Amino acid sequence: MKKVGFIFDLDGVIVDTAKYHYLAWRKLANELGFEFSKEQNELFKGVSRKRCLEILLDIGKIKATQEQFDTWMIDKNVDYLAYIEKMDAKEILPDVPRVLEYLKKKNIPIALGSASKNARPILEKVNLVSYFDSIVDGNSVTKAKPDPEVFLIAANNLGVNASSCIVFEDAVAGIQAANSAKMTSIGIGDSNILDEASYNFKDFTEISDSFLESLLSKNRKK
Ligand code: BG6
Ligand code: MG
Repeated sequence: MKKVGFIFDLDGVIVDTAKYHYLAWRKLANELGFEFSKEQNELFKGVSRKRCLEILLDIGKIKATQEQFDTWMIDKNVDYLAYIEKMDAKEILPDVPRVLEYLKKKNIPIALGSASKNARPILEKVNLVSYFDSIVDGNSVTKAKPDPEVFLIAANNLGVNASSCIVFEDAVAGIQAANSAKMTSIGIGDSNILDEASYNFKDFTEISDSFLESLLSKNRKK
């Protein structure tokens, strides 16, 4: 019987921080003299902070010096952290604690696999750190999703073969990263957007204990 591990993305899977990223990027865009819409913010899901700023400046047709670029990265993060500061457990998305608790009771190893450099403080704010056997975040990787690096490090830290890992993701780049690591990918959100995932659910309220059990037994045989 193979050991099975679960890997959770953070933003958009455990908590809805996309709205705070959006407000902070929109403030910067407005300060630079252009609009930034919610639709454009979709492009930022799962994407590193540096890449987000590059896309934002493309949208605003702004050329930055290295110094300006670095300053704006810091400014955006300072604004974002002001929102994070106010977060608490009420911001955990529905039924995430039930799924974490179910896996914990069965002694299944759990990792975080996030592009965010703020992942640990967010987990601390919402009081979920104790569920995670490993936290792999934007500080631990050199290559951003869709590269599988973040998930491969997580699998290695858990001592689980990549093919026996199951990943929850809300971003296309994250699903692609899980797939290229040969992991089982579960898309959380719009199934039309996340159509490359092995399974799709709107949110965790649709993920039953019996589905988790079936995943466990299937992946134990891999
Ligand atoms: C991802 C988010 O989880 O983290 C992206 O989906 C974000 O929108 C990225 O840009 C990096 O986050 P941070 O917190 O390091 O700026
Ligand atoms: Mg995400």
